[in-house]
Amino acid sequence: MSSKAESWGSRMGLILAMAGNAVGLGNFLRFPVQAIQNGGGAFMIPYLVCFLLMGIPLLWVEWATGRFGGRFGNHSTPFILHELDPKRSVWKYIGVFGIFTNIAVAAYYCYLESWTLSYVWHSIQGTFLGQSAEQVAGFFGAYVGLDSPIEPIGFWLVCLVLNTWILSRGLSGGVEKVAKIGMPLLLIFGAFLAFKGVTLKSGEEGAIFDGLVGLNFLWTPDLSTIWSAKIWLAAAGQIFFTLSVGMGSIQCYASYVKKKDDIALNAMSAGWMNEFVEVVLGSSILIPIAIGYLGVDQVVELTKNGGLGLGFKTLPYLFTQWGPLLAAMAGVAWFGLLFFAGITSSLAMGTPVMAFLQDEFGWKRGPSAWMFGLVILVLGLPTVLYFNEGVFDEYDYWAGTVSLVVFALVEVILFAWVFGMEKGWNEINDGADIRIPRVYRFIIKYVTPVILGAVFFGSLPEIYSKLTSPVNGYVAAARFLLLGLFLGISLLVYKAYKKRLLFTKQKA
Ligand code: PHE
Repeated sequence: MSSKAESWGSRMGLILAMAGNAVGLGNFLRFPVQAIQNGGGAFMIPYLVCFLLMGIPLLWVEWATGRFGGRFGNHSTPFILHELDPKRSVWKYIGVFGIFTNIAVAAYYCYLESWTLSYVWHSIQGTFLGQSAEQVAGFFGAYVGLDSPIEPIGFWLVCLVLNTWILSRGLSGGVEKVAKIGMPLLLIFGAFLAFKGVTLKSGEEGAIFDGLVGLNFLWTPDLSTIWSAKIWLAAAGQIFFTLSVGMGSIQCYASYVKKKDDIALNAMSAGWMNEFVEVVLGSSILIPIAIGYLGVDQVVELTKNGGLGLGFKTLPYLFTQWGPLLAAMAGVAWFGLLFFAGITSSLAMGTPVMAFLQDEFGWKRGPSAWMFGLVILVLGLPTVLYFNEGVFDEYDYWAGTVSLVVFALVEVILFAWVFGMEKGWNEINDGADIRIPRVYRFIIKYVTPVILGAVFFGSLPEIYSKLTSPVNGYVAAARFLLLGLFLGISLLVYKAYKKRLLFTKQKA
């Protein structure tokens, strides 16, 4: 329905933007911690299986449905899914997840992103030089505890405005440009830090172990736990989060791909780039450096109460052991890398929301970007103000974990069984620059839905216990807020649908 011809500038730009969408804070902060918490090497086997049998198929499904929807002028999941089976009205409401998740994740993600900006600033300033480990950790505690609220809130607002402004410049003029600058920089910063991590020598610069001790810990398989359901759920959850599947942002990006342009190879390029960054760079920085200085036991202990701490509380202290110049360089590289990883992902969360407003309500790009910014401001504020009360984690759980699985499960069934595998396979292969192994036709139809079903049902006990255990008032309020958001978007989708019906009637 949109009359605006938004599109990608180049193939390279599209791949980098898609890779930027996937490569995020999840790759550097979430992955290493998940791996450690779930037995290091033991985690990697389910992780790989989930990537091959669930991640890759979902990438193809999402790219294909996105490009298909775009052909009919639909760029957000409610009406992209609707297009796959226009006779039934339920799919639009499933598509609500693809807007809801982006808003709710962006709401807390932007705050996290703003920490990285602040830490770049403090690394340049040399704030952490001469501080003890406790002082550096305490700095973080005071920051999120809003002991002096101006700085955290200031950086957060800067981050919000920056995101919104880039979004208002459009896909090729904003998002793509940031990806073209941010992704190469991220790789350079990452290579520098990974080199430092892997070549860390015990006895030098205050390290007690070689960097390789950390890598070994991460990579030595512990087969005794391989059948644990908890590990499989964690691996599946990580694959979802890191690839940004089950979110609606891939479909949105793909809906701006031209009709006959390849998606099969593009999806692989972006997906594998994400895996390279995650498995190679994501393993070689945080873990080797932390373990090199603190030893395995202490690091395992530190990851027990969530992983964010390690990156912000521990690394800046360890960097100071390298002397003022290297400490500043490492701080800028680490937090700069996190910032670029973060912003190319949060931009991806904005586009489906903007696309929805543009397609359905005829909004212009600028106002829809600022509306997104405003919504994130309102919904993000509780995560900033009540971080320590658990609001941030609550958003992450419902939007960043549960929603993804529900959406992906329904989406793959719709694609493979309702739209039909015959048509679906043709969609994926249309214009393809590679030959996809035929076995994936079978995998998408049977294996992926079964795995997703297992992940979904496997998570039910945890969801149930979450819902039935007592929570504080802030968390309860956060849940209502999220529910309200979901219902609000559903209402907008309903209105948009009515508008469309009226429009077709008038035309007839
Ligand atoms: N994949 C991103 C990460 O690893 C997170 C993300 C989720 C980005 C959803 C966009 C949409 O951090």
